[in-house]
Amino acid sequence: GPLMNGKVTYKSPSNIALVKYWGKKENQVPANPSVSFTLDSCATTTSLTYSKLDEPGKDFSFELLFEGKPKPDFKPKIQTFFSRISAYLPFLKSYHFVIETSNSFPHSSGIASSASGMSALALCLMHIEKQLFPEIEVDYFNAKASFLARLGSGSAARSIKGPLMQWGHHQDTEGSSDLYAITYPYKLHEVFNDFQDTILLVDKGQKQVSSTVGHNLMHGHPFAEQRFKQADDNLSKLRKIFIEGDLVNFIKIVESEALTLHAMMMSSLPYFMLMKPNTLQIINKIWEFRAKSKSHLCFTLDAGANVHVLYPKSDKELVLQFIKDELVAYCENGQYLCDQIGNGAVEI
Ligand code: PMV
Repeated sequence: GPLMNGKVTYKSPSNIALVKYWGKKENQVPANPSVSFTLDSCATTTSLTYSKLDEPGKDFSFELLFEGKPKPDFKPKIQTFFSRISAYLPFLKSYHFVIETSNSFPHSSGIASSASGMSALALCLMHIEKQLFPEIEVDYFNAKASFLARLGSGSAARSIKGPLMQWGHHQDTEGSSDLYAITYPYKLHEVFNDFQDTILLVDKGQKQVSSTVGHNLMHGHPFAEQRFKQADDNLSKLRKIFIEGDLVNFIKIVESEALTLHAMMMSSLPYFMLMKPNTLQIINKIWEFRAKSKSHLCFTLDAGANVHVLYPKSDKELVLQFIKDELVAYCENGQYLCDQIGNGAVEI
């Protein structure tokens, strides 16, 4: 229809990868498939106000407000995002946009907001596409939102839906694609229902190395091919583990994936290290506690020093007590965030 002006708001969650995406080919195609739990309360809320221009502009026309204030440092990212997606959303240059965005988590928490931010914006843009093409159905809507989000930030492709998302083609996963994420199509054992993620904020500073630089360092990395194969193999192994609820083997894969991600950073040229001394302290404490308590907690890391502690809901009381007693001491200002598996983005 001849859509003119309007406003749409989406709240989109962050996600935490179990099998990590680290390394990409041209056009944001991942070097290996990844799977992640979609989070619930760590989220970005983005409102997009759109007004039709009298005639299409030569360039994109947008303003950006972060937590109510103009945010010039984010503009180049959005500019790049728009130029990458404009071939797939031809209406982009025909509108002026006001993008208002805010995060549920503290700004300098070291929690990446690219997954939640890019997926929220992709969904807002898909809302306009849907106004223009009302015949678009929900599955196409979500797949294209994920496709667009991927062009903003690879991991954002996995934040559209939940609870478990796969991005990247894998021979054993039916319907999987390098171009967008899908809801993991096989059964998940009930032990994964309401799985918990407590995020320990070890270092709230800015990352020293952007993920773009990190992905690029996998080109010509001496261990790259082995690593990509390992991710593939871990995905194959997880299929049975997810069905059977085999937490012992789940833990082995998840922790190995986290350490391998950081091992890739430490063995690239130039090399770098994003873990901090307190990251290691926490990992050791988790291992000690797991040996003596028999609870099924494990850790994972993204490209930073913060530790995600994953555990089944039935262990919640025990694990939270342990976190308060022993791990909070290693968090910056004692800060941590309690989250759990979620179902993806929602329009508000
Ligand atoms: O979405 P990007 O390009 O910022 O990459 C994120 C990569 C990791 O968070 C380290 C792993 C992952 O799969 O999310």
